[in-house]
Amino acid sequence: MRFFEDEDFRVLTALEMAMRNHDVAPTALVERIAQLPRGGCRKRLQDLLKRKFIHHENTAYDGYSMKYAAYDFLALRALSKRGTVTGAGSRIGCGKESDIILVQDENGNDCVMKLQRLGRCSFRSVSRNRDYKGNGKTRRGESWFYLSRLAAQKEFAFMKMLYDEGFPVPKPIDHNRHVVVMELVKGTLLNHIQDMAGHEHKVYERCLALMVRLAEHGLIHGDFNEFNIMITDDFRVIMIDFPQMVSTDHRNAVELFDRDVQNLANFFSRRFRVETLLHPSLEKDVERTAALDRQAFASGFFTKKQQMELEAMLEEEVDKEEDEEDEEDETNDDTQEATTETSVAVKSRHEDPAKEAVKEDNAGDEEDGGEEDDTDSMSETDTIAETKRQRLNQVRRDVKDNPNLVGNGVINMEYVKKRMKSVVKRSEDREFNRNMHRNSQKGRAKERIQRELKNTKDFSLFD
Ligand SMILES: Nc1ncnc2c1ncn2[C@@H]1O[C@H](COP(=O)(O)OP(=O)(O)OP(=O)(O)O)[C@@H](O)[C@H]1O
Ligand SMILES: [Mg+2]
Repeated sequence: MRFFEDEDFRVLTALEMAMRNHDVAPTALVERIAQLPRGGCRKRLQDLLKRKFIHHENTAYDGYSMKYAAYDFLALRALSKRGTVTGAGSRIGCGKESDIILVQDENGNDCVMKLQRLGRCSFRSVSRNRDYKGNGKTRRGESWFYLSRLAAQKEFAFMKMLYDEGFPVPKPIDHNRHVVVMELVKGTLLNHIQDMAGHEHKVYERCLALMVRLAEHGLIHGDFNEFNIMITDDFRVIMIDFPQMVSTDHRNAVELFDRDVQNLANFFSRRFRVETLLHPSLEKDVERTAALDRQAFASGFFTKKQQMELEAMLEEEVDKEEDEEDEEDETNDDTQEATTETSVAVKSRHEDPAKEAVKEDNAGDEEDGGEEDDTDSMSETDTIAETKRQRLNQVRRDVKDNPNLVGNGVINMEYVKKRMKSVVKRSEDREFNRNMHRNSQKGRAKERIQRELKNTKDFSLFD
């Protein structure tokens, strides 16, 4: 930061503004916003490029885009001007979507700075999906920086609200762009603990109690797993990360709650051999007593619209990542099966396929009749009649072979109900497996990044 001059800051701010509407901001636009004396902006841009803070593209037009290093610089400068961050130390944690850095506040206390890095693991797909035209926006106009800012905004808003309500979360200190500054939690990540010396049942129950208490306040974590929970020396449970937190009014609330409970049960049984019959459910065991979900959106830090935007975009990215993970074959098979079965079920909703076919034929007759008048050709009429007969026979055969119908075309309700139940169950199982897969992928990606970082000898904050 010391090596930056005010002009660098001006140019980067101009670039940030120009990137609101462009993935790659045209150089001329950046120059116009920065309003530096002639040629000054270009020189600064080249200098920043050399220092790898920005990226240059000259394919569709001459332009620049920021890298996370530049965005970090802008956020850090704002935070240090406010006095909330006075010095940065080493990187103490690294997730799939964030870097955690030890910093000091104005009183010299150790804090944690979380820099959101959404898209870090999907930069391949970002560059592939880059769109220079269409107003220069990525997909619907969001860039990774915008997404990271939204994520940080959400994290700060929820952390503040939960902290004020007395939930075990780190104390939020400040927020700017994609960065959240918070209290340093003195504890160990649940995933790093191999042995709890007999305290595992207590910790497990505390985790479940926390989940239920959250739900009573109208919130579901959505990703309550060993990577997002820290355990203190006196075995208290602290939630450090809640990117997917949703309201208990969410349309999938019951499943999401159930999934969190199930994931936690799986982890404790796998790692600590804790077998339990405790399995709280949202419908039976949770009585809502507060509405933190509504309060969060009403606080103004993070609106409901932003939540929906973030949810939709993250969902889109997860799907894209999964597509890239060679899952295609498996998914295709499943989808095909589901489509066939659903189509069977849908088909059975028709009153009687034979009648339907006759109806279709009649409709065809009307059209065909017009043509016949025009052509008046006997042979053509014969051919049409023959085709109709064949189709009718085919439909009758189908009706006979169709297990959804009994003999004369009446729906076999027993069978159809059974099939529909199995389709629904299968799709639920698929959703559950998908989430399990997503979690394990997340763990793997994190380990990879940590490995890569270990191999990088000279670490700097702006890597
Ligand atoms: N307040 C904190 N105090 C101490 N350590 C922290 C704090 N916040 C995060 N960490 C550390 O940083 C790591 C990553 O944090 P976090 O879960 O917030 O990021 P993430 O990108 O969501 O990671 P993941 O994908 O693993 O969930 C954690 O595993 C934890 O070890
Ligand atoms: Mg996390």
